[in-house]
Amino acid sequence: MILSCISYKGGVGKSTISQNLAICMAQAGLNVCIVDADESQNTHYWIEARDASLPTIHVEKITNDKEIALKVRDLYQQFDYVIIDSPPSQSVIADKIIMLSHLVLVPVTPKGSSEVNTAEQFINQIRNLEAIKEKEILARFAINEFDPRPILHKEFVERFKEFPIQPLNTLLHRRVAYGEANLLGKGVYEHSDAKAKAEVIALYNEVISILETI
Ligand SMILES: Nc1ncnc2c1ncn2[C@@H]1O[C@H](COP(=O)(O)OP(=O)(O)OP(=O)(O)O)[C@@H](O)[C@H]1O
Ligand SMILES: [Mg+2]
Repeated sequence: MILSCISYKGGVGKSTISQNLAICMAQAGLNVCIVDADESQNTHYWIEARDASLPTIHVEKITNDKEIALKVRDLYQQFDYVIIDSPPSQSVIADKIIMLSHLVLVPVTPKGSSEVNTAEQFINQIRNLEAIKEKEILARFAINEFDPRPILHKEFVERFKEFPIQPLNTLLHRRVAYGEANLLGKGVYEHSDAKAKAEVIALYNEVISILETI
């Protein structure tokens, strides 16, 4: 299966979710690789920090929009799961990534109206690409950096439930463990925060169950 983490906004958790899902898959014995399609190469640097005693994750750099389709198809011959960590803007490569993916995950952070506006633009672009593809594109919002205290965050989740693209049931909370694990080349599955580990396992299970419906 080809899975992408994509958003037209920066800093929303595309790399964090790509890395943590890949770690859950690798820890479950699945054959997974990450395509780092972002010029800033954060996932490439993350994997360089990874300890050799931990399960290996293959990270492939593909940032050329003319190469991405064929290279991802090649990787999909070798790996059961290919996760594409995408660049933070609407672009030719972003469109191709969406078209290539069996499931598109769109991280969103509950900050304010600009996140809602960007989500609406994203939904419009999905509709355009579906018209080109003549096939429905399977996508879910992934709410990240959730905090149960502000009313804004709860309202944000409710607002997203009204969209034609639904949010995942699993909410990823704001936790320092995500940054700490990232610095060590790990996922929170491999780190000390049990709540963070439990929520990424829930995310992984939800994603796998969606993929099983395809
Ligand atoms: N749930 C979370 N709790 C706390 N920090 C988080 C969480 N998710 C992500 N972060 C932190 O937020 C920052 C941005 O996350 P990340 O790099 O995954 O976003 P991105 O969408 O890939 O950004 P970019 O567009 O720059 O590639 C990182 O420092 C990451 O560790
Ligand atoms: Mg990133």
